Amino acid sequence: MDDSASPGRIVVTGPRERPTPPEAQWWVERLEARVVSRGRFSLQELVREHGAWGALVLTAERATFHVPDSGVEYFYHPAMARRRARNLSKGMGDPMVDAMGLRPGDRVLDCTLGRGTDAIIASLVVGLEGRVVGIESVRILAALTEDGLQSFDTGIAEINEAMRRIEVVYANNAEYLARAEASSYDVVYFDPLFDRPVEASSAMVPLRALANKQPLTPAVMRLARRVAKRCVVVKQRCYSPLWQELQPEELFRGRHSSIEYGRFAPV
Ligand SMILES: C[S@@+](CC[C@H](N)C(=O)[O-])C[C@H]1O[C@@H](n2cnc3c(N)ncnc32)[C@H](O)[C@@H]1O
Repeated sequence: MDDSASPGRIVVTGPRERPTPPEAQWWVERLEARVVSRGRFSLQELVREHGAWGALVLTAERATFHVPDSGVEYFYHPAMARRRARNLSKGMGDPMVDAMGLRPGDRVLDCTLGRGTDAIIASLVVGLEGRVVGIESVRILAALTEDGLQSFDTGIAEINEAMRRIEVVYANNAEYLARAEASSYDVVYFDPLFDRPVEASSAMVPLRALANKQPLTPAVMRLARRVAKRCVVVKQRCYSPLWQELQPEELFRGRHSSIEYGRFAPV
């Protein structure tokens, strides 16, 4: 349902009967959006009035994106990043980090940024000497994640700093990979949407509604394996049909987890 790439299809506004905050300009540039005055309008009325698809409402607390016709309401949150960071710091490991063979100083290209939870964990591990670039093809998600990574306070300085270091790129991963130099990242990572959602993951519901649902194809994998120096890692639910198609060389799974990480060698 992504319509966020069409100029003017998103309007930026403030809370009811309040002026639009000054930071609206940052969003206008990122989204090619228009600032409109909220007045007493409901969001549905506002969107209809301006022939828009969705409205980004800026309040002192957060930026929330609404698509009133489909009931979608989405704001940035780093989801499981804190819990995974805590597990790592207790030495409990993380199957994504294991699959990537990740270490300080690595360069990681996350081709499916989403909320950036996986990118945050990668950024924590690669540290100040490393680099994490995250690609997101849905414009509104790229902008909300870029803003969230820069401003969200997890209450833990080390995680906040790891978030601030992630570079967000609004692009289609295939186009980005086709232009990238061979072996220019140690690890290239994909977390495409699963064919069936994992029940427990309610945080994924509004993201899923807005996300690009294109499957990961062998052609994109070929591009990724050229750009990766150490490996390409793909996240899927266990026994994913994608494994038949892509044939990973090794699978990694956490204890009691329904998620697997497939590892592929570079070409
Ligand atoms: C399952 S989510 C990723 C979640 C992410 N790993 C995290 O930790 O938050 C998949 C994301 O990849 C994006 N995406 C899908 N296909 C893409 C493509 N071809 N290029 C760039 N981003 C893409 C979707 O819009 C969605 O936001």
